[in-house]
Amino acid sequence: MISNKERVVRRLCISFMLAVVAACVHAAPADAAFVFKPGVKWGNALLSRQLGILTPPESPAPRINGPTVFGVRPGSPILYRLPVTGERPMKLAVEGLPEGATFDAATGLLGGAVSKPGDYALAFTAENARGKAKKNFTLKVGNTICLTPPLGWNSWNCWGQDVTDEKMRRAADAMVSSGLADHGWSYIVVDDCWRTRPTEKEAGMKRPGWIAERAYMYGPARTADDLPCTNPKFPDMKAMIAYIHAKGLKAGLYSVPATVACCWTWGSFGHEAKDAATWADWGVDLLKYDWCTADRDWWRAGNNRERQFKAYKLMGDLLAKQKRDIVYNVCNYGRYGVTEWARAAGGQYWRTNDDLKDTWPLLIRSINENMNVADAAGPGGWNDPDMLVVGPMRSNGFTTSRLTPNEQYAHMSLWAIMAAPLFIGCDLERLDHLAHSLLTNDEVLDIDQDALGKAGRPVVHTPDYDVWLRPLADGSWAVALFNRTWEEREIAADFKTLGLPASCAVRDVWAQKDLGVFAGRFATSIPGHAALLYRVRSAGILP
Ligand code: GAL
Repeated sequence: MISNKERVVRRLCISFMLAVVAACVHAAPADAAFVFKPGVKWGNALLSRQLGILTPPESPAPRINGPTVFGVRPGSPILYRLPVTGERPMKLAVEGLPEGATFDAATGLLGGAVSKPGDYALAFTAENARGKAKKNFTLKVGNTICLTPPLGWNSWNCWGQDVTDEKMRRAADAMVSSGLADHGWSYIVVDDCWRTRPTEKEAGMKRPGWIAERAYMYGPARTADDLPCTNPKFPDMKAMIAYIHAKGLKAGLYSVPATVACCWTWGSFGHEAKDAATWADWGVDLLKYDWCTADRDWWRAGNNRERQFKAYKLMGDLLAKQKRDIVYNVCNYGRYGVTEWARAAGGQYWRTNDDLKDTWPLLIRSINENMNVADAAGPGGWNDPDMLVVGPMRSNGFTTSRLTPNEQYAHMSLWAIMAAPLFIGCDLERLDHLAHSLLTNDEVLDIDQDALGKAGRPVVHTPDYDVWLRPLADGSWAVALFNRTWEEREIAADFKTLGLPASCAVRDVWAQKDLGVFAGRFATSIPGHAALLYRVRSAGILP
């Protein structure tokens, strides 16, 4: 029993807390209106100042975006859409094209095929009424592909098993119409659920309860010619992929080295050669190969590590033999020392952790697991902390991510400094201002796509904050200041601790603004759960 006095005190306390919450909402910055939407579950958002839009508006003058290097195997078709922002009409041109390569000045598509291995120095130019931009670019014809992390969109977080051909085409349309393709986003990947589904009897196991029934998906695994059967929502994969290609984008799909995939569809086990050849014939540019239930199929092939290596290498070798480049994603959730063997299995990127969802604890898990394996990343092979969970996510009724704006800044800043593959998982047709600004900051993307390909790591790592460092190709460094706590705090990058020159020029990468020259250290206030990015160069004064 509580006394009347206690009841009154409790009521007073609750009223006081509600008043504090209301005051915080009113104190939110003016540009916060776009973020506070119904359906958003940002419990802790009120505990710290939330960042608004930092990316400056796009300049009408031309800017040639994307990496400075692109790898293609000798004789494989080149598919590279030059990403350029700025007012149209725009005149595009290239110098230094090697024999066999083509450039379509109207669409900006680099195509053709080059049979002679080598590093070819190209120079792209883009000119409009507001100015002219130039970009030096190396086309590396050789056996290493995926020289910078792939950028694209994947259907899983957005549509799960309800993905359709139409939704894929709409994602490709939106990738172009939203302007994202002009910032270098290029892959459109269909994840699980483009195939038919076995019955429990055919699968020889029980379907997990979390997979909702979709009657239309049941069907045989393969046609009489041993082609993988698609479910009725994918009437013509080849035509869908041609549609994606016609936009200058690249197409990816999903399979498993198992009889049954995670979301209960048929997989490639026992038909690997036929599947690899079929995908090449369809025009596939990327394969996500997910372990799922493959232990059942591969149990004879040694211990966990051995059997995974064998299964992934089988497909990796087959993909490398095709007449087109197919980027290979080894998706085994970071298990059995994958960072040590995925490259040898033919992989161009590999998951370093279990699935990421748009919650802070899972974001932290992905970051912590990825930062320990930074050395495994490099041109041609990348650590994958999983797909991006920024923007209007399905998990939150397509309103926004369940991550707060600050957490979304941490996500993008750290994925860029980690040299992570970036796959958007939200609905591209519903991008809001914040999501668009997070995905189109060219200086952030330049860090992710840096040609040196060294992944960053936290030089200072404490339970409360980190200072990350990544060396870049032009001799500068990316620095991320990461506040792991809910409360705003000052974080300092101490140049000596980071091994940097005593005096450095610092640029705010999100705001794309030079901040000046700093002696010894650069310190700034980082709001709770945010990470911000800086580009630091020697100011010419040595220690
Ligand atoms: C999981 C994988 C997810 C998604 C899903 C599809 O194993 O980690 O990214 O591909 O399977 O069923």
